[in-house]
Amino acid sequence: MMSSTKNIVLVTGANSGMGKATTAILADKGYHVVMLCRDEARGKAAHGEIIKKDGRSVDLMYCDLGNMRSICNFVLSFKERYDRLDVLINNAGVITTDRRETSDGLELQFGVNHIGHFLLTISLLDLLERSDAGRIVVYSSGAHKSGRIHFDDYNLTHRYGVVRSYGQSKLANLLFTRELSRRLREGGSKITINACHPGAVATQMGVDRSTGFGKTLVKMLSPFFQTPEQGCRTAVYLATSPEVASISGEYFYKCKVARTSKRGRDMDAARRLYELSENIIRERTGP
Ligand SMILES: NC(=O)c1ccc[n+]([C@@H]2O[C@H](COP(=O)([O-])OP(=O)(O)OC[C@H]3O[C@@H](n4cnc5c(N)ncnc54)[C@H](OP(=O)(O)O)[C@@H]3O)[C@@H](O)[C@H]2O)c1
Repeated sequence: MMSSTKNIVLVTGANSGMGKATTAILADKGYHVVMLCRDEARGKAAHGEIIKKDGRSVDLMYCDLGNMRSICNFVLSFKERYDRLDVLINNAGVITTDRRETSDGLELQFGVNHIGHFLLTISLLDLLERSDAGRIVVYSSGAHKSGRIHFDDYNLTHRYGVVRSYGQSKLANLLFTRELSRRLREGGSKITINACHPGAVATQMGVDRSTGFGKTLVKMLSPFFQTPEQGCRTAVYLATSPEVASISGEYFYKCKVARTSKRGRDMDAARRLYELSENIIRERTGP
């Protein structure tokens, strides 16, 4: 069991893009950062690069957010190593033009971007509660505005499209933020949770990891996009700034509370999605 005097932050999808940039920035600010990565080789490469700079305290752990067993195993290992968590940054994300499924049989974006992070977050609330001021930061996206939650077909088995699937998952990130914040407040918890939109950022988002398809397009567009270091500013602000210590359930863009779509403020849908997510997880993991 590691008992760190530094604040402990867990970053999902920490081997690439904004997750990697966030890891480096927070390590330089004196946090002990735990990188959650799904792929051993990519995780080790990124971790090795990050710890080249002196003074950074960074741990590496593995988890596939598309696999509930992997998430439960990760949580067990994390709790064996750490007795507290100060900040959780739900950064990992995926976008695919063709319909794919997680190993639990969920549509990939709904399964990884929303359900995987839902299970991880709920499972780590007890450790966040042990922090003096636990914070959760959720990467949503402006793409939530084109999304709706398809309660009757959340796996998008009919009329699959990338806008529908990614939009649904990023709206789910936002509604989860709103509903969990409401529940935490109602239960008297001091943990805060806020969502953010990073803007358009040149990362590996949309690049097929096995074929490399999409890499050239990212390269061509990168001069017009923000760098990952610029893109993660709002998440870093939400993770660290005293200005937002008591703000919860909000959506931020450029370090300011921003307007969401009407669906992004629908608390009935937020509650329904929360209950649906609990049921989806219960069906696959048991009571
Ligand atoms: N880039 C943008 O313009 C933009 C705009 C709005 C919102 N966002 C959001 O920003 C967040 C960060 O994305 P990014 O742009 O930095 O993309 P990225 O470079 O593609 O990084 C995504 C990270 O998520 C990880 N990941 C994917 N599936 C996973 C799984 N099943 N289990 C665990 N980790 C998994 C990836 O791991 P591998 O490398 O192993 O695949 C990678 O580390 C995402 O939530 C995205 O939706 C991005």
